[in-house]
Amino acid sequence: MAILKIARMGHPVLALPARAVPDPKAPEIRRLINDMVETMLDANGAGLAAPQVHVPLRVVVFQAPDDRADPDLADQERFDHTAPMTVLINPEIEILGPQKEGGWEGCLSVPGLRGWVERPVHIRYRGLGIDGEKIERVARGFHARVVQHECDHLEGRLYPSRMDDMTKLIFESEMRHFQVAT
Ligand code: NI
Repeated sequence: MAILKIARMGHPVLALPARAVPDPKAPEIRRLINDMVETMLDANGAGLAAPQVHVPLRVVVFQAPDDRADPDLADQERFDHTAPMTVLINPEIEILGPQKEGGWEGCLSVPGLRGWVERPVHIRYRGLGIDGEKIERVARGFHARVVQHECDHLEGRLYPSRMDDMTKLIFESEMRHFQVAT
């Protein structure tokens, strides 16, 4: 296991489409995934895509812990807002409805910044797990957002390119000016 160096915005590896993993069970893929998980946890990120560690392959890891889900929702609606530590190899996303919602995003490749990004609320995603098993889930809320953000990395896209209003690309340290009083 090793903590890997994270590519930052401007590095060409972040702007290229990543290649499909030909053999998801290959030992080097398992090693890459273990290192990605360790790197993500060390950097306190919610997700990480392989291009962010300079490997242009279609692999993402993420988690959507309960404390990042919307606390206003009833328990029954929350199950698909959270996800345990998940590995997805060769993922695909299907958008399940026209509804979009905005949320603040950050990215380990864009350190120190936050941006307001509108994304589809409700998705289904598919991919292969670390043992080559099929994963298929429906997601909403933060869970849906983190999956879309990570899969964007596989298309060479960073979240600022998804933003409509660049006045909402701000430093994390200025977030207090944008928090709505309740
Ligand atoms: Ni990111």
